[in-house]
Parts: sequence; C-alpha cells; structure tokens
Amino acid sequence: MEALKGGEELSAGAWNWGRGGGILNPLMNRVDTFATPVWLEELTDLGPHREAMVAAVRELRRVSEAGLERKSNRNGWRSTSRLLELPEFAPLRERLLPSVRAALEDYGIPHGSMAFTVPAWANVHDRGGFNVVHVHSGCWLSGTVYLSVPPGAGSLFFNDPRPAALMENFPRRTDRPLTPARAREKFVANPRNLLLVMFPSWLPHGVEPCDCEERISVAFNVQPVLMGPE
Ligand SMILES: [Fe+2]
Repeated sequence: MEALKGGEELSAGAWNWGRGGGILNPLMNRVDTFATPVWLEELTDLGPHREAMVAAVRELRRVSEAGLERKSNRNGWRSTSRLLELPEFAPLRERLLPSVRAALEDYGIPHGSMAFTVPAWANVHDRGGFNVVHVHSGCWLSGTVYLSVPPGAGSLFFNDPRPAALMENFPRRTDRPLTPARAREKFVANPRNLLLVMFPSWLPHGVEPCDCEERISVAFNVQPVLMGPE
C-alpha cells in the first residue's frame, strides 16, 4: 500500500498526521491564555545567616514540640506563624519584602494599593514527611524559602489548576520542553538552600515525601490587611 503523505485525507474524513505536519507557520501566533506565574529567586546573599536560622528553628522545635497545630504537614513539625519577628530572621524579613513587593506588582496588584502582612512559619520534615496538596485561602501570594535541603529532600510540586485540562487524553511528545502550552499535571520546583519560590495562594501544591533526616523550610503568606472605616 502506498504511504500517505502529511495532511493527506484518509477515508471516512480522517486526516493523516504525517511527517512534518503541525508546524506553526509565521502567521500563526499562539497566545498562552490563563498562565499561572511561579516566581523563583536565589537568595544566596543570605548565606552568612543560613546556619543561624537553621539553629533557631531546631531550638524552637526543641522547646515547643507539643501542642502545635497540624495543617497540611505530615511527619514533621511546624512552628507558629511569627517566625519573622525573631532576631535570627530579621535579615530574611528584610530581604524578602522587596521580592514580595516585586511579585505583587508583577502579578498586577498596584504598588501601595493595600497593606499586607507576611506571617511566616518554619516547616521541618522528618524522614517520610510530606505535605498533602493544599491551597492557602484568604491570601494573595504564598511562598517558601529553603534553609536546609539535604539530598533526598522532597520537592515542592504544583498541580495544574485547570481541572478541565486533565480530561485531555492523547499521547504527549517527550522530546520537547514543557512550555506552558504543553505542560499538564505537575510543575516541580526542586528545592535547594536559599531558593525562594512564590506563587498565587490559590495554586494547589504539596511536598513530596522526604527521604532524608531533616528538611527545613520557611513558608509564608502575603495576606491583605483589611482597613476599618475611618
Ligand atoms: Fe503551602
């Protein structure tokens, strides 16, 4: 049987894909609608302060092991949400705020339109610890800064926030990068020391199981402050 060429019509109205088919021509513009930003930044200039922050988290855990609220975290420990008030975290607070403001501006929230607070807490994962998929309700942005990420520490992953996209069912090419138009299901941010990851608070995310003794991160929310009547 003679081979079909690209674009040639098969019987019953079906089209052959063929070789070389499906390449955008110069007149075709793709618009990636409803894109979801994730901001990444290396806070390497905080290197001289990292060990003091790690030591402070360990000490907090040592003295307050019992009675802490469990949220999305499993098999580990979580501090209260006032971490940035501690002196060991003053450099992180100072370094974080300009990045938060930049992300808010980039996200379309005009500078100075509303006040916000940044409650932050330490997350410690023990071996096998993880975070179930969750969102941070009532906030603008959320984020994480990694303080101690040994080999085997679980990655932060984001689920595709478009449930309808999961209804697609076709084989996907694996020889091309996962640009936003091609990516589905998960986006994985591989943690490393002093990496900052920020994202809209509604974006579902979780942490894969920890295959190391101790993984330490600082999570935070960018939370609008509701101003009362004058
Ligand atoms: Fe989270």
